[in-house]
Amino acid sequence: MLTIEGLQVAYGSQQVLWDIDLRVERGEFVTLVGANGAGKTTLLRTISGLLTPQAGRISFGDEVITGMPAHAICERGLIHVPEGRELFPRMHVYENLELGAFARRARKQRGANLERIYALFPVLRDRARQDAGTLSGGEQQMVAIGRGLMASPSLLMLDEPSLGIAPILVETIMETLRKLNSEGLTILLVSQELHYALELAHRAYVIENGRIVLSGNTADLRDDHHIQQAYLGL
Ligand SMILES: Nc1ncnc2c1ncn2[C@@H]1O[C@H](COP(=O)(O)OP(=O)(O)OP(=O)(O)O)[C@@H](O)[C@H]1O
Ligand SMILES: [Mg+2]
Repeated sequence: MLTIEGLQVAYGSQQVLWDIDLRVERGEFVTLVGANGAGKTTLLRTISGLLTPQAGRISFGDEVITGMPAHAICERGLIHVPEGRELFPRMHVYENLELGAFARRARKQRGANLERIYALFPVLRDRARQDAGTLSGGEQQMVAIGRGLMASPSLLMLDEPSLGIAPILVETIMETLRKLNSEGLTILLVSQELHYALELAHRAYVIENGRIVLSGNTADLRDDHHIQQAYLGL
């Protein structure tokens, strides 16, 4: 569904991604893991069209999307829930959610999508007319995921949805991702919660200093010596 080949990305003269090859099949749950500064956010931002690569190719479905503007990529159902959530804190929760439905593909499903999100995260229905900025970090993350779902994604990319939120809400969010995937949504998750990520995902890519250094089935990676030492603290 998503295929990345030979991707090179730089900020000015500073190259940060080197020869990235990555693939996500329809229905898969794939995780991208790596330390701070490894290049995870840069990769997601390049996939969504917010950054232009120096070289390489990104295909989504049967189209090459490299160089397409971000809104055109959204319109194709490739949706990015950004690091840090990027909500509008002075707007109501439901208004933030509705902002996700601007894509043409999503407008007709607005009502049904909103109901589905409230069913997934009942607290958001209770808080619908509250300013998003008054919610806890975990609840705000639910709004950010909900806004992504409002766009009727066929592939949802999430950048660190568990960062800085209470452990109980990390679990709620991770379980929700599992459920969404079991209902057919394809997921690419960036997370430093490696224990969770390796449990939820089918496959993982490990990125270090801008290069993919390991990839494979999560069941195998959990037993990998390098992963255990460098990431799981075993
Ligand atoms: N706008 C920018 N301009 C210049 N360099 C940048 C910019 N954004 C990120 N970088 C650099 O690119 C590299 C990769 O950063 P990136 O944010 O993609 O990493 P990350 O894996 O998402 O890290 P984190 O886990 O902290 O979110 C880092 O060295 C970072 O300093
Ligand atoms: Mg990041």
